[in-house]
Amino acid sequence: MSHAEGVNVKRRRVLIASTAAVGAVGVGAIATPFVRSWYPSAKAEAAGAAVVQDISGIENGQMITVKYRGKPIFVVKRTDEMVANLSKVTPKLSDPESAKSVQPEYCKNETRSIKPEILVVEGVCTHLGCAPTFRPEVGAADLGGADWFGGFFCPCHGSLYDLSGRVYSGVPAPNNLSIPEYKIEDTILTVGES
Ligand code: FES
Repeated sequence: MSHAEGVNVKRRRVLIASTAAVGAVGVGAIATPFVRSWYPSAKAEAAGAAVVQDISGIENGQMITVKYRGKPIFVVKRTDEMVANLSKVTPKLSDPESAKSVQPEYCKNETRSIKPEILVVEGVCTHLGCAPTFRPEVGAADLGGADWFGGFFCPCHGSLYDLSGRVYSGVPAPNNLSIPEYKIEDTILTVGES
């Protein structure tokens, strides 16, 4: 991919993400402030209050980020292909069964989720805490080419995670990305409550 194409793809993703955010909160709102309004007050947040987010506006294959207890929470709407590809990377993972990682019992499955199509995961690298980037492109040349089926890449020291937040073998990060408690009722995601 040329640099110009790369910029365009990046810009398109930003636009799609913005559209998803606006779609989630209603027409006429300014995306960022309105999304913030879903968050609890600073005092409530410090006390660990749950965060409520309408996820109906997330496009297939796209990700939004919400904040919970000061951490970014990645919410990805996985396509059927993304879900099917999870089993293809299992041999390359350090902890495919999520035996060592942190997640609620109801997410201790291959998709690490309540609904296979919705991933809710902490965007905090388990190495030293950087924020991984969302890299859903299958076959990305800089991430292993044909061996890459989409996931997250930590730019700090190169750790790789699949699209359920499971860490690859041979990278600095020791564990899968953590999954917070959450529930989904219709199109409403609540992070911090089961
Ligand atoms: S903090 Fe992510 S690889 Fe080091």
